[in-house]
Amino acid sequence: MRELVEQLASGHRLDKKSLSALLTACATDSHVLQLLRDNAVRTARQQFGLGIFIRGLIELSSYCRCDCMYCGLRRSNRTAERYRLTTEEVMACCKEGYNLGFRTFVLQGGEDGTHSDEWLVELISHIRSLYSDVAITLSLGERSEESYIKLKRAGANRYLLRHEAANEELYASLHPSSRGLQHRLACVEALKRAEYQVGMGMMIGVKGQTIEHIAEDLLLIEKYRPEMVGIGPFLPHHATPLGGEPAGDLNLTLAAVAIARLILPSALIPATTALATLTPRGRLEGILSGANVVMPNLSPSDVRAKYAIYENKASWGKEAAEGLKALESELQTIGYHIDFSRGDFNNLKQ
Ligand code: 5AD
Repeated sequence: MRELVEQLASGHRLDKKSLSALLTACATDSHVLQLLRDNAVRTARQQFGLGIFIRGLIELSSYCRCDCMYCGLRRSNRTAERYRLTTEEVMACCKEGYNLGFRTFVLQGGEDGTHSDEWLVELISHIRSLYSDVAITLSLGERSEESYIKLKRAGANRYLLRHEAANEELYASLHPSSRGLQHRLACVEALKRAEYQVGMGMMIGVKGQTIEHIAEDLLLIEKYRPEMVGIGPFLPHHATPLGGEPAGDLNLTLAAVAIARLILPSALIPATTALATLTPRGRLEGILSGANVVMPNLSPSDVRAKYAIYENKASWGKEAAEGLKALESELQTIGYHIDFSRGDFNNLKQ
């Protein structure tokens, strides 16, 4: 296994069989996992030093037309409480976030049919006109190429669209009523053509997913070379068909994060909220596997519980300001600090 880690760390590609063998070893052998993580951390430090970029997450809407088997916002979940932020509410989140030092806002939401291009263009233009120096990241699911282009022209810079599963059958089983993996990837390609910095990624440990599937996910990431990669554990939400399934494995998640770092040294990789929800040290363990971004929540406190893609989402308390201080102290325990710069993708060091 040592050779496989060294190959990865020196920029060599691993095939599906080797990646699967490495992932399997990491799930059972703590020494292999540690070696992999040490290499990923070294690579991340060469790229980013000890700074961790922050992104202020604003959850626009909990309405969703999709019916993903794992997600608490799925349209079949009649018990989900739905809300939709107004333009004024979003602007208030941005104001608070900007004053705290955030220079990236992530506008995330379910696929809410009422979010027309016109409404989003106006919202994005408004944010752009008030805050010319921030990055605007969108995470609003599948839209038309024309829509992606309009939102980019309005001032958006980045788009997160996890591919969720690189394997067609697994993708189909998790996303009934979706337009399928090929359509998902066509959206990723449209986003690239529109010149967004693009994020891909997947959950670890969702029902039906094998180690080989995770290897396929990592190979897809290698093929598409996205600027951002989000990887977190699956967490069961009781009001979904997968509510009785176990959560994803911590070590396997950390291994996947570390491999993503070695495959794409300059990618922006968050220590996901799902990782922090799985285990209290999750966010730090993610950073100690090569992650270099965290995404604190800037949504109004009264809607946060309603944006339940899974349950008991980790956060640093209700006030964003308190949260940032808590994050800084948390990072300090492992020798890191918040980097308040905008944190665009930059592959000069690759
Ligand atoms: N557990 C973990 N992650 C989830 N996501 C959605 N539902 C869950 C869940 N139950 C992830 C998906 C989605 C991202 C916003 O959150 O990968 O792309």
